[in-house]
Amino acid sequence: MTLITDASLLPYNTFGIDVKADYLIEYHSLEELKEVLISDVLKSNRMLHIGGGSNLLFLSDFKGVVLHSKIRSLQIVQEDSQSVYLEVGSGVVWDDLVSYAVAKGWGGLENLSLIPGETGASAVQNIGAYGVEVQDLITVVHALEIESLKPRAFTEDECCYAYRDSIFKNELKGRFIITSVVFKLDKNPVFRLGYQYLEEAVRKNGDITLENIRDTVISIRESKLPDPKIIGNAGSFFMNPIIPIGLFQNLAQEYPEMPHYMVSEAAVKVPAGWLIEKCGWKGRRIGNTGVHDKQALVLVNYGGATGREIAGLAASVQLSVKETFGILLKPEVNFI
Ligand code: EPU
Repeated sequence: MTLITDASLLPYNTFGIDVKADYLIEYHSLEELKEVLISDVLKSNRMLHIGGGSNLLFLSDFKGVVLHSKIRSLQIVQEDSQSVYLEVGSGVVWDDLVSYAVAKGWGGLENLSLIPGETGASAVQNIGAYGVEVQDLITVVHALEIESLKPRAFTEDECCYAYRDSIFKNELKGRFIITSVVFKLDKNPVFRLGYQYLEEAVRKNGDITLENIRDTVISIRESKLPDPKIIGNAGSFFMNPIIPIGLFQNLAQEYPEMPHYMVSEAAVKVPAGWLIEKCGWKGRRIGNTGVHDKQALVLVNYGGATGREIAGLAASVQLSVKETFGILLKPEVNFI
């Protein structure tokens, strides 16, 4: 394991917020994680476990220990004529996993290409894009209980997945650390191209293959989402709100063009990006912060912004969406 004191968190958050932690500890195996959890430094400090830092907004220095997994194992744990069950260490970079699966010809993850972050966090956040959520592929999540140091395997059902949500963000928040995730991948891939413009875009690029889907998703993402290495951001800042059908019907009278997806008979999901754009925020810059000009759901740090400045912008955006549409946007990003 490695321990750094007074550690800069700049390389550990894609928003590019320049803050520090009293301690940063990285571990490479389940055994090392257990050692870390019983160490004195952990007993006497509060703890924050991070992944790729692509969903975090640091409001100040972190007084305590930041933990980060470098468990980077990849192992087939079961296989039959249809499927491969791949157990992936929590510290494997998400897009490295997608790239590996596509190269092997195993289907399932390709629509989730280029999502920033790491495998452990993917199972907490139930990451999703282009009609696929990671819960569709997960069979088991292996985790370590912090208090007892006992490993536990959660079935997909036990993870209580919902849109960008899981048991690890709710009842079990702060109680378990995910160490690896098992994904069921298809040897005979079924392509999922139902998301809006995806099929058309893939066909324009050539035959429908895993590689083509991956390349197309990457180019769509690159055209809309800023590269965090160049402009700090955490992807979608807010979740797409799910609103009651009654509110939707009222709004649809005034805004018949409002994009929407039925979630159930009683609930409708509307794109937060559309709501924010309609309120005039797209492309606006305030100091070193701004609303991205190609995707209004993304808040950006043009360089040198503090977490509080970004949070201030987020609050202003929330207020205008609330005033205009009566909808309270909920951040997808975690404020630390
Ligand atoms: N839209 C606008 N203006 C904007 C942005 C979007 O009008 O500035 C409209 C688009 O016209 C489109 C709709 O909103 O009709 C949806 O837009 P898009 O396909 O870009 O997706 P999204 O709903 O804004 C979600 C996820 C993304 C994911 C994409 C693609 C959430 C919070 N975000 O965005 O995930 O990549 O779908 O599946 O669910 C992330 O979570 O960080 C993320 C990037």
